[in-house]
Amino acid sequence: MNLQGKNILLGITGGIAAYKIPELVRLLKKAGANVRVVMTHAAQQFVTPLTMQSLSGEPVRTELMDPEQESTMGHIELARWADVILIAPATANFLSQMTHGIANDLLTTLCLAADSEIIVAPAMNHVMWRHPATQVNVETLKGFGVQFEGPVPGDLACGETGQGRMQEPEELFVALQHYFSQSILSGVNVVITAGPTYEAIDPVRFIGNRSSGKMGFALAEAFVRAGANVSLVAGPVSLDTPQGVKRYDVESAEQMSNQVSSLLSGCDLFAACAAVADYRVVDSAQQKIKKQDREMSLQLIPNEDILASVAGEGNPPFTLGFAAETENLLEYAQAKLERKKLDVIAANLVGAEEGGFGAEKNALTVVWNEGKVSLPMQNKKKLARELVDIVARLYLQKKNNTENYRLIQGLK
Ligand code: CTP
Repeated sequence: MNLQGKNILLGITGGIAAYKIPELVRLLKKAGANVRVVMTHAAQQFVTPLTMQSLSGEPVRTELMDPEQESTMGHIELARWADVILIAPATANFLSQMTHGIANDLLTTLCLAADSEIIVAPAMNHVMWRHPATQVNVETLKGFGVQFEGPVPGDLACGETGQGRMQEPEELFVALQHYFSQSILSGVNVVITAGPTYEAIDPVRFIGNRSSGKMGFALAEAFVRAGANVSLVAGPVSLDTPQGVKRYDVESAEQMSNQVSSLLSGCDLFAACAAVADYRVVDSAQQKIKKQDREMSLQLIPNEDILASVAGEGNPPFTLGFAAETENLLEYAQAKLERKKLDVIAANLVGAEEGGFGAEKNALTVVWNEGKVSLPMQNKKKLARELVDIVARLYLQKKNNTENYRLIQGLK
């Protein structure tokens, strides 16, 4: 995969393997990547900032609070600039800091502020690597969606042998190439709905639900990562827009429906992740309703089912629906798949101990006509990536079959 023009932020922490990183920078620059290097204080004991600056062609960043360094590119800007962050070598101490969200220098702060993928290439003594504290940190970080490259077994700088060596620069280069080659949905136009909808009762009150939008936003990010052009129609949520996503804010189900309709031409894949209110208030009040000493009732009428109407179009895009159920997960999901004429549905149990609305984690059962697969309880970002992987394959399979079919028709 071509690394031309890719923005790679390289973080170096204090391990002897740091002496190999100049070679990695050389390979990346030769491949046309833009490389910016951030070094911890300890890293500078092993390799000099001047070496890294000469090879990367960019000033090396070492300080969080240095006005001069910050003036070239602020640290938040730097975190957002990166298409991917690679920490190599990553020490046991660095992994521990990252696990606990510690942000006491430039590199740890960048990792906390970044919404791009973080890849770490650990290097340490094999006993340190095997230590339960390190292993717990590794598992936690994997749960956050951090990708690990190595360490690999071999001779260690301390004179011992075991699993603790950083991967070689050439291997890290290939890992980065592989990371950018995951663009299986390149050029595919995706529209996603996310978050809740608010149905007005009067100018200050509404009927809403507890959807946080996290799953839909994670899905948008994962689709961008897979190379798609993503439009995200978001209900009222307080989440940052993932990099590369075109966001449209709406409030009510009706606004969401109109916004989706305006994005449908050219849409290849529609993912309905929003928790759309099933009903809206008939003639919501223009002025604030005053309290009265008697019962009151609201008359509700059904909202349009956005997903069902998209899937029911003459030439519908590939459709992914969601089903949140409290019981009979598979049975209800399958029924929704058929009733709404969807290509695939992702179902989760709500009301379970962890996962679901507002939570950081979730688990999904993905069902389509010819199969199903269960994705275990995990961080929503990681889950979204796994879901996109499955959906992308199903989408491409359907598209290729249709194109083959068209080809055969054309030959007749
Ligand atoms: N959905 C939609 N528009 C609506 C309601 C739902 O696009 N007005 C979409 C959701 O985004 C989700 C899927 O439909 O992808 C499942 O919706 P759900 O509300 O669970 O299904 P219902 O058909 O309403 O069934 P029930 O409420 O009985 O579970």
